[in-house]
Amino acid sequence: MTKVAPSMLSADFSRLGEELRRIEQAGADWAHIDVMDGVFVPNITIGPSVIGSIRHISEMPFDVHLMIRDPLRYVDAFTEAGADMLTVHAEAEGSIPETLRRIRDNGVAAGITLNPPTPIAELDRYLADVDLVLIMTVQAGFGGQQFKEDCLHKIEYVRRWADDHNPGLEISVDGGINRLTGRRAVEAGATVLAAGSSLFGAADMAAEIRLWKGFGPDPRV
Ligand code: DX5
Ligand code: ZN
Repeated sequence: MTKVAPSMLSADFSRLGEELRRIEQAGADWAHIDVMDGVFVPNITIGPSVIGSIRHISEMPFDVHLMIRDPLRYVDAFTEAGADMLTVHAEAEGSIPETLRRIRDNGVAAGITLNPPTPIAELDRYLADVDLVLIMTVQAGFGGQQFKEDCLHKIEYVRRWADDHNPGLEISVDGGINRLTGRRAVEAGATVLAAGSSLFGAADMAAEIRLWKGFGPDPRV
């Protein structure tokens, strides 16, 4: 079944704990938490202390997407805050292999991601060392942007690699996901749908999540 990871970026930040409970009750599999430092991306969101303060509210895995310039520097802080998965950008600074190693050494699942302009082949050198690949279908930084069709081939690329080398690899997709683009992403091989505006804006979040979970891989692929 397709996993659904609502992005807390679209939550009401004045009631973050209640919003976390709300997505859990609506059937979310993971909570997708977007960390932005105002340097790697223009926007600023939250850091380890806020994540730590809501950790006790839910046992849902925290899927933490780091949009920060120097992820290695903060791996331990996000581990202590209670992240279950830490995903770093291939475009970030510092040694990415060392960062991924540090994440795994901390007992946290390691993820790699890339922005739309970055060629998918940039991930080749990391695929063997990650538990999750996050395909960005918008430029990282803001919610509510339009899904970029031309990123779908990246999902197919990682799906092919995973089928050959690591069938358990989670392939997540993030940016402009709704019931139409989400279905296409799953048909291309995604296993996780991360989405903010379309889920938090849905009239019935639980029904929307149920629908998405039913998406299956395209039998023609
Ligand atoms: C964007 C974030 C996304 C964002 C997605 O940089 O990584 O997780 O919340 O928002 P929507 O689903 O509105 O595109
Ligand atoms: Zn994200």
